[in-house]
Amino acid sequence: IKKIAVLTSGGDSPGMNAAIRAVVRSCAYHNLEAVGVYRGLQGLIEGDFKELGPRSVKNIINRGGTFLKTARSQEFKTKKGRAKAYKSLVDSNIDALVAIGGDGTFTGCKIFYEEFNFPIVGLPGTIDNDINGTDYTIGYDTALNTVVESIDKIRDTANSHNRLFLIEVMGRDAGDIALNAGIGAGAEEILIPEQNLGRDRLLDSLKKSKKSGKSSSIVVVAEGDQIGKNIFQLAEYIKENLTEYEVKVTVLGHIQRGGAPSCFDRVLASRLGVGAVDALLDGKKNIMIGLVHNKIVHVDFGKGLEGENKIDIDLIRVADITSV
Ligand code: F6P
Repeated sequence: IKKIAVLTSGGDSPGMNAAIRAVVRSCAYHNLEAVGVYRGLQGLIEGDFKELGPRSVKNIINRGGTFLKTARSQEFKTKKGRAKAYKSLVDSNIDALVAIGGDGTFTGCKIFYEEFNFPIVGLPGTIDNDINGTDYTIGYDTALNTVVESIDKIRDTANSHNRLFLIEVMGRDAGDIALNAGIGAGAEEILIPEQNLGRDRLLDSLKKSKKSGKSSSIVVVAEGDQIGKNIFQLAEYIKENLTEYEVKVTVLGHIQRGGAPSCFDRVLASRLGVGAVDALLDGKKNIMIGLVHNKIVHVDFGKGLEGENKIDIDLIRVADITSV
């Protein structure tokens, strides 16, 4: 292997820049050439490449987003699109690819590898933490901190007005952000797709807590939760059935994807980036680099990534107990 390309694909996440930097500098360390691919898998199709040296990635470890830009490519889902991408790589004498992204990216990469036997290593980059085979994805910790900081601010006003706030957080089909940020921000109730609480149990619980002397309440709702899917309807339902509270809704939205990465995400991204180049030099391909029990692991793109989301159910108990 002489030349490695790196790209970011799917939704951006804080720490992606740190991961690119680690890949590029690892290449420099091992005397390999590094190439940045702009706009993810779409840029791969279009051959939107730029040579990167260790100085090209200066002053980015602290920056959110991805300087290589990202995209969700529809064309890469077609055989024709992937064939164009392969041609771009071969034309530029690229020997291997590091793809930083989420499950959509990995699905595309797996098919691409099967079709062209082209060496690819994936790095999990998404705020959702919904990738099996790693305890943490790049960007998740920063998103948690952003959510907790935002909820702390909402708590100030909720408490001043004796209001109930429903706060919607991201996570796609996974409840990791909601559950962990909910515990961290001291939420009253947390609605996640992995556990169907039901509107009436939610109502009962809110009534009980009102009786127990609570003057305001925070309910964190994962965007993928069944009853939370239409958070404004849920708010109406609560208003009709729980008149003691004034109910407000806040949808945190894309604020959760931005901002400077936390130290945890910077270190995680650096370790995974170095791990990716190490793996390629070791002849590994068609794998994701993950972190399990604080150790770097190699996870097969196929089996390793399949299965249900790995939420820690014990955390639900912790949330229940600490919100009494
Ligand atoms: O996968 C990251 C994520 O931010 C999800 O949490 C969210 O559902 C989705 O992307 C939003 O996608 P977009 O930025 O395309 O609206």
